[in-house]
Amino acid sequence: MTPGLLIGVGVGPGDPEHITLKAINALKSADRVFVPQTDASRAATGPGRAERIVGPHVDPARIERLLFAMADEQARGGNWDRAGEAIAAIVRDGATAAFATIGDPNVYSTFTYVAHTVRELVPGVRVQTVPGIMAMQDLAARSGTVLVEGNETLTLLPYTAGHEKLPEAIAHADTVVVYKGGRHLQRIQATLADHDRLDDAVYGEQLGLDHQEVDAASARETRGPYMSTVIVPARREGVRGGKLT
Ligand SMILES: C[S@@+](CC[C@H](N)C(=O)[O-])C[C@H]1O[C@@H](n2cnc3c(N)ncnc32)[C@H](O)[C@@H]1O
Repeated sequence: MTPGLLIGVGVGPGDPEHITLKAINALKSADRVFVPQTDASRAATGPGRAERIVGPHVDPARIERLLFAMADEQARGGNWDRAGEAIAAIVRDGATAAFATIGDPNVYSTFTYVAHTVRELVPGVRVQTVPGIMAMQDLAARSGTVLVEGNETLTLLPYTAGHEKLPEAIAHADTVVVYKGGRHLQRIQATLADHDRLDDAVYGEQLGLDHQEVDAASARETRGPYMSTVIVPARREGVRGGKLT
């Protein structure tokens, strides 16, 4: 039997209207649609974020939840193994599996690790991805922030890479986007203030969800959740097209 197909489908950061037509068609074409469900949220008992987005487009009988225990980093490997085995059971027999993932499947997505596992379990499986709208794009739109123009550079920094990477990024890139930094927001704010970059920075948490907040980064007084993004826009003179030269 020729192995089947695994599609990593980006479904956007949270707003159900941000799923693309291509993503919907990929989900509809799949024999089984896998959705991650963490044990760290209400998703442990009800549908998780990805499932709430894909739910209206897919026959519930074809949806299968994959539990991702968030307790500690050591649980990660077990999560990927269990998810990979469940997906392998589908694609091994030539069927198509879709894995719905928040944002884009090629940007800090669990899909990357799960696909790695499936490739090991089912040699010859085909793997494709469908791009999704990313959290930084959603925040840029909701806050009216231009991410980059002209020759400006963009650095996407996971704060978990280490605090020292933030001043480095500010020094070397024009626009800096910080992911995975919600719990350290106050330290991020202080660093941006030290570099005179706090005033233009914008902050968004739980984008597209019921508890969404979008603010000037300077206006936030408390730390945020994991699902937080900060955009530090490039310094601009306000001249149209000025960054093209
Ligand atoms: C594991 S990464 C996932 C990134 C995602 N694949 C993407 O393309 O945007 C998780 C980080 O993405 C950002 N993020 C994802 N969804 C978000 C949302 N709804 N609101 C704010 N930030 C979000 C946060 O910085 C969070 O820490």
